[in-house]
Amino acid sequence: VSLQLHDLTFSPFISEETIDRAIARIAQELKRDFNGKEPLFIGVLNGSFMFAADLLKKLDFPLHISFVKVASYEGTKSSGTVSELIGLKEDISGQTVVLLEDIIDTGNTLEELYEALQKKGVAKTKIATLLYKPKAYTKKIPIDYVGLEIPNDFVVGYGLDYDGLGRNLPAIYKLKE
Ligand code: IMP
Ligand code: MG
Repeated sequence: VSLQLHDLTFSPFISEETIDRAIARIAQELKRDFNGKEPLFIGVLNGSFMFAADLLKKLDFPLHISFVKVASYEGTKSSGTVSELIGLKEDISGQTVVLLEDIIDTGNTLEELYEALQKKGVAKTKIATLLYKPKAYTKKIPIDYVGLEIPNDFVVGYGLDYDGLGRNLPAIYKLKE
């Protein structure tokens, strides 16, 4: 059963059941580490909306929830891109934050987010991602909670898009070779 999005064809890769089991395991780990600490979970939009919803429903201790978008632009000073967190109005200084990501590929997005959170004075930042491509990752920031490690294939579904399409799919598909 393949799926057409724009010009590309995708085939089934990770089932709803496998996703659910991976999320249940992360939920157990988070409960072990954050029960009683009232952490702030920050979902990175758009991709993490489904993961965040399904994961947070499985956590049964008091916690805070917020969402951010990242706007990246070329900095006027020095090199590289500068990232701004959009949507985070509350004061998060001193908080323990758990960042929720749909996927970590090169880690560029993660690094920018991480630095932006440090600038806001958070006490501690932990990272939870549903999908992780270890062969693509180029950064040193530890990834604390991983749902599933995958090869360097392009995937869609469960929040992830190909040029705007595919986010609504309840399972994950990969590009057909
Ligand atoms: P990174 O900055 O290279 O780690 O890439 C992170 C962002 O790229 C994710 O938040 C996704 O939006 C996008 N991305 C990376 N890999 C994929 C993929 O396989 N499918 C869809 N989007 C992806
Ligand atoms: Mg995308």
